[in-house]
Amino acid sequence: MKLTTIILAAGKGTRMCSQIPKVLHQIANRSLLQHVYDMSSQLENNTIKIVYGHGADLVRDTLKDLEVSWIEQKQQLGTGHAVQQTCDQFSDSDTVLILYGDVPLLKLTTVKALIKNVSEQSIALLTVNLDDATGYGRIVRDALGQVTKIVEQKDATAAEQLIKEGNTGIMAVQGKLLKQWLSQLGNNNAQGEYYLTDIIEMAVADVMTIITSQPSSVDEVLGVNNRIQLSHLERVYQTEQANILMEQGVTLMDPARFDLRGTIESLGTDIIIDVNVILEGKNSIGNNVRIGANTYINNSIIADNVVILANCIIDNAIVGLGSKIGPFARLRPETVLAEQVHIGNFVEIKKSTIATASKINHLSYIGDATVGSHVNIGAGTITCNYDGVNKFRTIIEDGAFIGSDSQLVAPVTIGKNATIGAGSTITKDSPEHQLTLSRVKQVSISGWQRPVKQEK
Ligand code: UD1
Ligand code: CA
Repeated sequence: MKLTTIILAAGKGTRMCSQIPKVLHQIANRSLLQHVYDMSSQLENNTIKIVYGHGADLVRDTLKDLEVSWIEQKQQLGTGHAVQQTCDQFSDSDTVLILYGDVPLLKLTTVKALIKNVSEQSIALLTVNLDDATGYGRIVRDALGQVTKIVEQKDATAAEQLIKEGNTGIMAVQGKLLKQWLSQLGNNNAQGEYYLTDIIEMAVADVMTIITSQPSSVDEVLGVNNRIQLSHLERVYQTEQANILMEQGVTLMDPARFDLRGTIESLGTDIIIDVNVILEGKNSIGNNVRIGANTYINNSIIADNVVILANCIIDNAIVGLGSKIGPFARLRPETVLAEQVHIGNFVEIKKSTIATASKINHLSYIGDATVGSHVNIGAGTITCNYDGVNKFRTIIEDGAFIGSDSQLVAPVTIGKNATIGAGSTITKDSPEHQLTLSRVKQVSISGWQRPVKQEK
């Protein structure tokens, strides 16, 4: 069976009150349309077409890497009109699946079950039972329980409005039949639109069976029309992800205060994650890792036994085995920490490698540096890596000790086991094993008197 998936994404989304087209709003850092695409791209033997219109340039530009054909619907005259634009894009024998760019959490299993119901004699329709079906098209059934038509809210009689079975809009139809019915659509209805839903009544007239199936939960088929619905679906999505992690052996102190906006490429066991942690991009987290409250980690690798205390930012960094970070530490891109490294509070590291068991525990900036093993960098140390135009590297060799409040003016090398006296400004290479300091000699002046306040 060859499948063509049509994703309708031309609508404006007026109620988002936004300059951005609705389908580009995001759940977990991925646009709504991307979610639908990612799910449908897992269907076998499938080609994907996106009907777009509102915010055309921005939508295509933002999602230019998707493997799809783009079909522009210049005027949005209804869901039926939208699908009509695609009629020359699929062949008669295709199964055509219709999805919506603003219904992001639909599950692959639901779609697979749906498309099994398509044949030359049947349409597959996804419906949902709702406590309140306001706004939805209603599924009208006859005395035998067979679907006879879908009626839109605005066209429904008072009796039809009481129906609780709603149309999700999602359906699958054989290509030939779809083309045939689409060519007969009119717009004589309350909204003056070409309704895709009208093909159901046509199919019934042609003695087809409408086979309905349901999603596993209502959330799967909820669309986003405003930011309240967007936030609801964000939480639904995050809850699902949190549950998956907990099932895999992660302790989340509060799953409602955890956000995964991306993927975990490799996940250890006995990871403990405190509240308000955000994981973004692609991360890997090893065994026995503890992540403290209010920590943000982006595109990073965290090895086994790492402890990250509260309020850290770790961005495009690698944290080696057993290292200890924070509280309040910031690891910027291209930071690579080897094993057992300690990075303490108010320390910023950028584009630097720090070898085994080195410590930078307080109030420091280390940028563009290569730091050896067993180095101790005292509080308030700064690598002066930038002259306002160019960046330069600082090299600190194994076993060096940098006294507190030192500035290392790059390019500069601190030799193996060298000691830098506290408060030094180092502008020249400092030899191995020696004490180097640049500091005004301390003097004490005897007999000195503090000034006293003069009487006016
Ligand atoms: C549609 C269904 C309704 C169903 C509801 C579920 C029809 C006539 N009605 O109604 O039965 O209960 O979805 O949410 O199909 N779109 C286009 N081009 C258009 C019009 C719409 O691409 O010309 C896209 C929109 O961007 C949106 C989707 O189709 O993603 C649904 O359109 P919308 O106007 O929201 O349909 P509803 O009136 O909600
Ligand atoms: Ca809608």
